[in-house]
Amino acid sequence: MSRPDLREVNVSDVTIGRRPFLKGALSATALLAVPGRLIALAPQAGQASSGLADRYPPIIPEFPHILHGGDWSPEQWLSEPGVIDEDFRLMEKTGSNTFSIGIFAWSSLEPEEGRFEFAWLDDIMNRLAAHGFHAFLATPSGGKPRWMSEKYPEVRRINRAGQREPHGGRHNHCFTSPVYREKVRIINTKLAERYKGHKALAAWHISNEFSGACFCPYCLTAFRDWLKARYTTLDALNRAWWTAFWSQTIQSWDQIEPFESAVDGLNLDWDRFVTHQTVDFMKHEIAPLRSATPSVPVTTNMMTMFVGLDYWRFADVCDRISWDAYPRLHAEDSWKQVADMSLIHDMYRSMKGGLPFILMESTPSATNWMQTPQLKKPGQHRQEMLLAIGHGADTTMYFQWRKSQGSAEKFHGAVVDHGEAERTRVFQDIVAHGALLTHLDGVVGTTVRPEVALVYDTEVRWALMYSQGPRQTNPRTPFDKDYAQTCQEHYRPFWKLGIPVDVIESLSDFTRYRLVVAPMLFMLRPGVAGRIEAFVKAGGTLVLTYLSGVVNETELVLRGGWPGGGLRKLAGIWSEEIDALYPNPPQRVVPAAGNALGMSGEFPVKDYCERVHPEGAAVLATYKTDFYAGMPALTVNTFGAGQVYYFATRPTADGMLDAFTRGLASRLKLARNLAVELPEGVTVQKRSGGGRTFYFLHNCRREDQVVDLGAIRLKDVADGRIMTGKTTLAPFASFVLERA
Ligand code: GAL
Repeated sequence: MSRPDLREVNVSDVTIGRRPFLKGALSATALLAVPGRLIALAPQAGQASSGLADRYPPIIPEFPHILHGGDWSPEQWLSEPGVIDEDFRLMEKTGSNTFSIGIFAWSSLEPEEGRFEFAWLDDIMNRLAAHGFHAFLATPSGGKPRWMSEKYPEVRRINRAGQREPHGGRHNHCFTSPVYREKVRIINTKLAERYKGHKALAAWHISNEFSGACFCPYCLTAFRDWLKARYTTLDALNRAWWTAFWSQTIQSWDQIEPFESAVDGLNLDWDRFVTHQTVDFMKHEIAPLRSATPSVPVTTNMMTMFVGLDYWRFADVCDRISWDAYPRLHAEDSWKQVADMSLIHDMYRSMKGGLPFILMESTPSATNWMQTPQLKKPGQHRQEMLLAIGHGADTTMYFQWRKSQGSAEKFHGAVVDHGEAERTRVFQDIVAHGALLTHLDGVVGTTVRPEVALVYDTEVRWALMYSQGPRQTNPRTPFDKDYAQTCQEHYRPFWKLGIPVDVIESLSDFTRYRLVVAPMLFMLRPGVAGRIEAFVKAGGTLVLTYLSGVVNETELVLRGGWPGGGLRKLAGIWSEEIDALYPNPPQRVVPAAGNALGMSGEFPVKDYCERVHPEGAAVLATYKTDFYAGMPALTVNTFGAGQVYYFATRPTADGMLDAFTRGLASRLKLARNLAVELPEGVTVQKRSGGGRTFYFLHNCRREDQVVDLGAIRLKDVADGRIMTGKTTLAPFASFVLERA
């Protein structure tokens, strides 16, 4: 595959903050940060010839360690200074070094309009610095003070039903309100001016978990302006939205309302606008920070595979990606949830081309908002943290440092509990983890460079949500025809094999990869079909499925036979129609005798069966039952120097996808992180850079598992123990290893 031989990587691809890096922190890395761009100098020893960075700078350049700490709310304890003293003592004990502070502190910083109180924050910042700790200092916009809601009702959102929301709660402000923007500008400017150059200031934590939409007149006007810029004329908009349907034609811009609509294009554009407006608000937040502290990186904490915003648009604005991980690891087969979480880690690492990300929040024990907040079993905390690092995190941070004494999160897991802080199992886990991190400095800045990419695209997910059919769907509910789950099911076999995967959107660069798996690529965004074609033509392997190339970016059907938009000739098939199956269908597929992937037996499938006709593609499996028995269920077509696989049906998780992926991996000779067979529930990740390679080996099951390492000799970076041959991994055991 051709790879771009970049000497200059645009900032939208890789951004490392605007600090000049500290030479001593980076041995083999030749990187130079200048405002707006990251320049990778000519490859040197240890640097990939692709032009991608071999090793990245630490998040805090002068502090080349994994960051450890979390959300801390000293403003809740100002009347009990002893508690804050105690916090500092305990922080030292846990080997913590970085704290997110001030996230919801607006009413402590500005108790009355225009009256600011920074003395308490000065004290906290100074004491953090004195301990050699760092602050991810938050802008407080996630929770506005009550005086503001009262005096300026416009800062409170109007909901879809047209009602102004009450003050209570958080994350409920209008992103467009001029008053809110002005108040945010003032407080952010004050914070930036006051703490610029402060030794403790390591990064800006912008707001908290942006989410939601507002339907106030300001937002509706902004939406209409955004549409005018996008479509120019109403005629173009009406055509793009297909509004002649049900008499929905728009006659003036003012008629456009996003409340409830049968017009899919409108729904999609509203979601795009909400992302646009959120990012615009974020840029507004960042402007005063950049101006006062140009070298301090900014980030904002994102949430899992959140469907409400297209996070890829955030990536350009943030210097580092960060996310909050609250996996549900309670089930008997919780290793599957670990695999699902791994996909999300991979997505956040991929958002900036492999730049190590920030695990901003995770719970040290139980999460109070879950239905059944089961405790972490012994070993699970260490495992969760090492998984994050293995996938590319350069931090392990928690929500929260100390439990609040009152209000909604008093029972949420924390490092410091309400009583006997140091004696708790959780605290001891954190101490042990902090000690382990002292052995992982070499991991900082290393990364993962997969040959495989999986496409998970938020806009495709929206398009599937809004489309009524081919199975029934309910607009405005996150029923995405199981798109996210399907992506996870295609990802999991790679995880089981220990093959690293980047998780990208459909607008991402495909040319870095040898294999791109793009399940349910229902909507073809502009330019995607052409780039896919070029990728395959040049020798790439592509996996497509049912429901690909069905609509364009405003949800107009791509006519002329599916998969449309040019994918039909790549896949070498024509999909004539799609059958929807009831639960527990008898439908099964049978691999063709002697198929190139070595699949055998019979596999159950679910939900969708397309009736496809080969147009040059070879048939790898056929349906067993119903009137389309014998028709192709899986095909492969050669196009240019590459190949396209097409699943006409959705395999039941694991079985067929495992067999297919194993066959494909061996055919393409995809490199595994470790060339050994892994029992189900055991996985391994690899991070490399600066001439070193680290392996993260995990048994994610509740029972012992045996791995046969053969002649491979691995050394535990913490205690130097050598692993080789048949090795028994205890339940939830995790190791960081290097070649011995
Ligand atoms: C996150 C949020 C934190 C805290 C946490 C509890 O979503 O950012 O402030 O509420 O959840 O799990």
